[in-house]
Amino acid sequence: MREVTCDGPHKMKKASRAPAAGRAGASTGPPSHAGIVHFVSSTQNAQSTDPDAAAPATPAADSAFLRACRREPVPHTPVWFMRQAGRSLPEYRKAREGIPMLDSCFMPELVAEITMQPVRRYGVDAAVFFSDIVTPLKAIGLDLEIKPGVGPVIAEPVRAAADLDRLRAPEPDELAPIAAAVRLLTAELGATPLIGFGGAPFTLASYLIEGGPSKGFEHTKAMMYGDPQLFTALLDRVADITSTFLLTQIDAGASAIQLFDSWVGSVAPVDYRQYVQPASAKVFAAVADRGVPRIHFGVGTGELLRDLGEAGADVVGVDWRVPLHEAERRVGPGKALQGNLDPATLFAPPAALDAAVQRVLDDAARLPGHVFNLGHGVPPNADPGQLARVVDYVHENTVRS
Ligand code: CP3
Repeated sequence: MREVTCDGPHKMKKASRAPAAGRAGASTGPPSHAGIVHFVSSTQNAQSTDPDAAAPATPAADSAFLRACRREPVPHTPVWFMRQAGRSLPEYRKAREGIPMLDSCFMPELVAEITMQPVRRYGVDAAVFFSDIVTPLKAIGLDLEIKPGVGPVIAEPVRAAADLDRLRAPEPDELAPIAAAVRLLTAELGATPLIGFGGAPFTLASYLIEGGPSKGFEHTKAMMYGDPQLFTALLDRVADITSTFLLTQIDAGASAIQLFDSWVGSVAPVDYRQYVQPASAKVFAAVADRGVPRIHFGVGTGELLRDLGEAGADVVGVDWRVPLHEAERRVGPGKALQGNLDPATLFAPPAALDAAVQRVLDDAARLPGHVFNLGHGVPPNADPGQLARVVDYVHENTVRS
């Protein structure tokens, strides 16, 4: 078994999925895993033994998730799933019935309900805000929609300098429903942390330039190589938009953020460092003084892991292609890692799924900070029972004593 220590206040015999009914939002107090006692006083945060830990004194500050992000000892390995709130859940499909995706993102009660659904169902260690990376673009009035089965589609793509005029950081009132939803959620979540998120400049710019999802990113790269000045000006503007989106979520109560650079794996490291990293670094710098952990994730980023961390992340998300012990070597010291179960294993028989989860845990056994996640988002047709199985497996098999 693993060598683990716990000098923190948490002790857990067995963390099992909490019963769905009444788990969150109960008037008796914040949701908590069965068997875990949450010590959440702000005095205790102030007494943190890590002088670098700028943990805000929120009820969630001492959660397993935030402790792992800060590379502190944890009572169990925390687990959440990218795209945990979404189409794999029948209750999500019911809640969204007849409401276009981007309309739903501006309805605070609905956003809060959908965000809570996987927390109630699975007992994951963190909630991820229900929204989309293009939500702030919608907020500033861009003509765009999210087409089911396709993704974001933008009516007038950005191809010339004049198109930049349409891009500006959102005003506070344009993001008021986002702040309202976060406030509802942090009140309901109690000691369970809420992860805010935004789209990284490259990935968001790729939608703006292509006009929609792309496989080869031809227009994007044509601009990057052909008009680097315009390309970097665009990414810089997107950085401001995403920074505002993230700050809105943090200031309303989100206790960590994840910057999704989902498609940056298509960029060579030398080009990443020249054209992309400065804009991502700008986003991380914009939120740095808030002191919340900053997670950075992209797909197919095996060759970029160190650069992603050096953009300013505290936690580097790893897809399923690089084992976590090797990812740690590539990322270098001082960062926590998040990942990295192949989402396709969710379609394997339970015993094979368990074995795949155990392999990720073994790969992570020596890391000072590991947040269990998939290597990319939950596939829409995943069986919720398999996700529940993963949560229980991770909790039950990583108890520190
Ligand atoms: O993780 C979560 O549970 C929070 C919700 C979330 C959504 N989008 C909701 C959503 C998050 C974190 C995102 C981020 C996002 N959006 C990313 C980065 C994450 C990743 O997967 O790499 C990207 C690339 C997008 C853009 C986007 N939005 C795509 C590619 C799609 C899928 C289109 C499809 O139907 O196949 C969306 C739509 C979307 N975003 C849905 C959800 C729940 C599905 C919309 C629906 O139910 O109709």
